[in-house]
Amino acid sequence: MASLTGCGTGILLNDFGNWAAPLALGLFFGTLDLGRYPKLGWAGPWVRGTLGAGAQKVRCVRFASRFAESLELGRRVTFNRGVPAKVITVANQKGGVGKTTTAVNLAACLAAVGRRVLFLDLDPQANATSGLGIEKLAGASAYRPLLGDGALADKIQPTAFERLEIIPSEVDMCGAEIELSRLENHLHRLRQVLEPLRAGDSRELIMIDCPPSLGILTLNAFAAADYLLVPLQCEYYALEGVAMINRLLTQLRDSGANPNLELLGVLMTMFDGRTNLAHQVVNEVRQHFGPVVFETVIPRTTRLAEAPSFGKPIIYYDKYSTGAAAYEVLTQEVVARLKL
Ligand SMILES: Nc1ncnc2c1ncn2[C@@H]1O[C@H](COP(=O)(O)OP(=O)(O)O)[C@@H](O)[C@H]1O
Ligand SMILES: [Mg+2]
Repeated sequence: MASLTGCGTGILLNDFGNWAAPLALGLFFGTLDLGRYPKLGWAGPWVRGTLGAGAQKVRCVRFASRFAESLELGRRVTFNRGVPAKVITVANQKGGVGKTTTAVNLAACLAAVGRRVLFLDLDPQANATSGLGIEKLAGASAYRPLLGDGALADKIQPTAFERLEIIPSEVDMCGAEIELSRLENHLHRLRQVLEPLRAGDSRELIMIDCPPSLGILTLNAFAAADYLLVPLQCEYYALEGVAMINRLLTQLRDSGANPNLELLGVLMTMFDGRTNLAHQVVNEVRQHFGPVVFETVIPRTTRLAEAPSFGKPIIYYDKYSTGAAAYEVLTQEVVARLKL
């Protein structure tokens, strides 16, 4: 019970090593679902035995959900130590298919559900950078670290959104395509400079937004990634884009450039349910690719198109819009596919 006194003063909120008391309180007040913590299942009977009919219920309830959060963090620190961050590259060589919209909103939703996310904007147009409310400044991007000048970690900036950091882009990134091609091992530069950011416990996911081409920056993002997410606009030419990406995936695997790259999923975007064409395209893509296509389809909505001009992801711009709901549901699918 000594540790419970410690809890009451909040000391344990910062002490991830000692998770027994938060666990006890969380269980006792029903804020924790023990099923989510299979490794801690043994603690259940002990917890109930120790607490019995606890006193000071009112004061404790106020703290219980905070303790649950601290346990959540403690659980990761305790059991996930040394698991590298997963890198997701959002790519399609076509422009205007919803890459940036998807990367920004998915990253924001993943951060909102508790994941620590780093966003890496590799597109010289820097739409994601401004869409996340960050100014485009010369010298702020991954450009120089990619060329071997300085550490990528020094370019990380916080965003206004909890648990979401960014390495912004800027116009200079255009030059990176040309300058990188002169370097030795130029397809693996990003993988190398990203490695220190993947290691350790400070973040769980790294989301990369690519330019609309299959140039050197995009190929670097492919080589650095664990997973590829391909947005496809619900239009007649959608399938052509995927055929190209599929060929490239095979090449990346066969050539040894990134043998482990997995297709996380194909996402149908800008779906307009009023047109027959949109339904036909979705059906055709599903027939062609089967379960790799996400169940969630992103609707075409003006709110999604407006949000970037306010520097906000859709869940912060219009929380109750259909666009926000679509990206929230997609997030659940992604979390399940990543087994997070
Ligand atoms: N689901 C959607 N509904 C309406 N507009 C969208 C949607 N997704 C993207 N847009 C808009 O379409 C344009 C292209 O999207 P964007 O995400 O920038 O594509 P990409 O990064 O592939 O070039 C942008 O103006 C964006 O705001
Ligand atoms: Mg884009």
